[in-house]
Amino acid sequence: MSSNFIFSKHDTIELANKYGTPLYVISEDIIKENAERLLSAFKKCKVDFEINYAGKAFLNIAMCRIIDKLGLSLDVVSGGELYTAKKSGFPMGRICFHGSNKSIEEIKMAFEFKVGKIVADSEYELGLLNRIAEEMGVTPKVMVRVSPGIEAHTHEYVQTGRVDSKFGIPLKLVVKILSQKGIYKNLNICGLHCHIGSQIFDEKPFIIAADTMLKLIRDLKTEGVGITELNLGGGFGIPYLKDDSVFEIDVYLKKLVKFTGDKCKEYGIDFPKLLIEPGRYIIGTAGITLYEIGTVKEVPHTRKYVSIDGGMADNPRPALYDALHHAVIANKMDSSFDDEELVTVSGRCCETDTLISDVLLPNPAAGDILAVLNTGAYNYSMSSNYNRLPKPAVVLLNGKHDEIIVERETYEDIVSKDRIPSWYR
Ligand SMILES: Cc1ncc(COP(=O)(O)O)c(C=O)c1O
Repeated sequence: MSSNFIFSKHDTIELANKYGTPLYVISEDIIKENAERLLSAFKKCKVDFEINYAGKAFLNIAMCRIIDKLGLSLDVVSGGELYTAKKSGFPMGRICFHGSNKSIEEIKMAFEFKVGKIVADSEYELGLLNRIAEEMGVTPKVMVRVSPGIEAHTHEYVQTGRVDSKFGIPLKLVVKILSQKGIYKNLNICGLHCHIGSQIFDEKPFIIAADTMLKLIRDLKTEGVGITELNLGGGFGIPYLKDDSVFEIDVYLKKLVKFTGDKCKEYGIDFPKLLIEPGRYIIGTAGITLYEIGTVKEVPHTRKYVSIDGGMADNPRPALYDALHHAVIANKMDSSFDDEELVTVSGRCCETDTLISDVLLPNPAAGDILAVLNTGAYNYSMSSNYNRLPKPAVVLLNGKHDEIIVERETYEDIVSKDRIPSWYR
């Protein structure tokens, strides 16, 4: 029996030897389990629903194929994400195009590709969409993003639904803007959208958001504006640490559907099609990152630093919003509790670049392979070439298969877009 860390039925040391490090490892089996949990919870409720996977969490052509096969829709937020989906052959009718400041080119691209829905983020954008739709002779389906004024308990940088936010139209202004007659005549405004934040551990703010949005649908109905779809965004938390307690998603969705039914009766509105937009929930637990340990430095009576061959360039989350991760030494899974010591895992970039400030690891030494867990979301998609580091490869596991879905960058890739000005030639 191997004492190596097994992830999704694969020996991670064999993966590290085969593909090198740093390495993003993604399990299609876990993606499927996560998605199926959401799908079956909604199906049991027997309501009209749609699940938009939020591509910002992790997107490339293979991921688009997986999402398509699962029957989910896809939320994209940029021309680049939209282009990736188009290239993969993803059905454009199942695309929802987001973004707080879409360019005219991106909007035209979305209309040309005939995306299923576009989310207007502001009054300005409603006007822009209307003008471009008129010029192009199209009548796109539009959802309106609302800033519902809800504080969810998560990091300030990922709180997106509060009053003081760049996202969405402030709740107070929505009825006034949407009830203007004949202004947005080239748009088929069918739905409302809100997203209150990310990595949320409590279901209450989602229920409060649902109530706020249903009241808004009622108020719009009073003004003669019919809304048939309600997108409550993503944001469901995942357990990064052993003690993180997350709510049961199927219990929450059942509660949400019942609550929506009750409130629709109370407010005299029809039950809307319900949409959610999870990213992290679907991909977060489906990914790990493998690194090789190099320098191990003991500062006497202070701390032991364990340096790895990656860091904030491939996982900026700890540096960006103090995100916490758990890690194991993949080749020392049989070590005893007595071998463990509290260490700091440091990235190789030229900042402090602390990846994990305190973690118990068994005798970490150069050449060991460190597996950082639950790195599927907002790692690869947020990675950079800081310090001119080539981006790691992404390998996909499916049953007993493992294949590269994104190749490791080379030094040649790093310089490929550089140009020498004529006066130096
Ligand atoms: C509009 C919108 N929808 C969905 C998501 C996905 O959030 P999460 O990955 O936390 O589910 C985000 C994340 O920032 C978002 O901004």
